[in-house]
Amino acid sequence: MQNLLNMVKIYDEDALSEYLKNDFILEGLSKYQGDKEFVSHEWLLNMEEKRLIYADVYGELLKSSGRKVLDVGGGFCGLSRELIERHDYTLLDIMAHDDHKKIGEISSENGGFWINSDWYEFDTDRNYDFVIANDLFPNVDQRLRMFVEKFKDITKNLILTITCNDKDVFYKVKRVDAQELLIVAPWGRDMTERVLQNLFNERSISLPKSKKPIFRNGRVVYKFSHTIS
Ligand SMILES: C[S@@+](CC[C@H](N)C(=O)[O-])C[C@H]1O[C@@H](n2cnc3c(N)ncnc32)[C@H](O)[C@@H]1O
Repeated sequence: MQNLLNMVKIYDEDALSEYLKNDFILEGLSKYQGDKEFVSHEWLLNMEEKRLIYADVYGELLKSSGRKVLDVGGGFCGLSRELIERHDYTLLDIMAHDDHKKIGEISSENGGFWINSDWYEFDTDRNYDFVIANDLFPNVDQRLRMFVEKFKDITKNLILTITCNDKDVFYKVKRVDAQELLIVAPWGRDMTERVLQNLFNERSISLPKSKKPIFRNGRVVYKFSHTIS
């Protein structure tokens, strides 16, 4: 009999000040000066909030070994090298921000961990211990439902960081396959909560309200994990 557990937490000021007592991600990154040109590495150096989240999502994996990990939209930073060394680690990422030649070379030198593909097109007959999507849904990609439906049954642990924004912000974007201009608004807390509740058929899933967002641009980040044991 399988046990399914859904958990939600918010990254708030208390979590941030607790993390900063031992900023081990910053210390870890200092060993990998050569990876500064990767955007995710630079974000981690510059944003303590990103380090809190990285520590929470990847902290265990930076100590353990031998897991099958699929990191969707994970980007690349110095500490990715430790994940690659310790685990059977696959980065499934279109690397929109980074130099494909450079990541391609690092991948070739390290067992070919990088798959350059939209996760939607990715086909696998493998099962994973962890499928992670950190800072992808629904702020970058609004196909949250499709993602969860695709991956939730092929992993023991699905870990998503979920970014919401309740401010009246919107972006003008252009379709690459048509002439249309679109206005895209980030998902707020209520909308995101409803989608998660419907996906898991669980009314008890609730995204706590943020007293004060820790990110300067007002976005609020949650961790959602779905575990099968
Ligand atoms: C906001 S960045 C986050 C990167 C990293 N996880 C971090 O927190 O620094 C979003 C990442 O998702 C990747 N990405 C965007 N759309 C994707 C898709 N459809 N399939 C795979 N990766 C995607 C981008 O290339 C980028 O690396």
